[in-house]
Amino acid sequence: MVLSTGYNKTRTAVFISGTGSNLKSLIKFSKTSISPISINFVISNNSKAKGLNYAKIYKIKKKVFSFKNKKKSEIKLLSILKKNNINMICLAGFMKILSKNFIKKFKGKILNIHPSLLPKYKGLNTHLRVLNNKEKYSGCTVHFVNARLDSGKVILQKKVKISKNETEASLAKKILAQEHKLYPKAILKVFNL
Ligand code: GRF
Repeated sequence: MVLSTGYNKTRTAVFISGTGSNLKSLIKFSKTSISPISINFVISNNSKAKGLNYAKIYKIKKKVFSFKNKKKSEIKLLSILKKNNINMICLAGFMKILSKNFIKKFKGKILNIHPSLLPKYKGLNTHLRVLNNKEKYSGCTVHFVNARLDSGKVILQKKVKISKNETEASLAKKILAQEHKLYPKAILKVFNL
């Protein structure tokens, strides 16, 4: 991806569905001088998403789309993103699957974070499946989004050791802390920084 020069950071939208802790870490990163991106829009499918509060706190535009009618929501969404000159999308705990058509419009410019060492444990309930399989390690992955779920090219991964007596909650917490560091690093890598 080409890095905009001078003070023009790449205008980015973050898509969330829940707590938004990755959104918060991305906003903080975006405000540093080394960040090639600025966060200019927060999108959610869930009007009750806690993470929407960060948009309020940091005075970032936000919009909720129900995605009940995916086609209609995506058409409106694309027009808003275009109007706001958004050039990059970071999915961060976004629980809806974007259509092929939408992904094509932002080809190579949509990133996602997933709480497993992809290609292992795509989809939901990753931590539970990891523990049930008695894995020694898990982790998180930032990858490009393509039309297949959690299957795009891997940008960066962080491995985490599973402790004795690890629970789904303790593993989720441990991995989430790493996610907050990994996403900014992956963005720097995408921009060759
Ligand atoms: C993260 O574990 C992310 O990897 C997954 O959903 C969770 C979102 O957490 N896709 P948050 O909303 O960023 O706190």
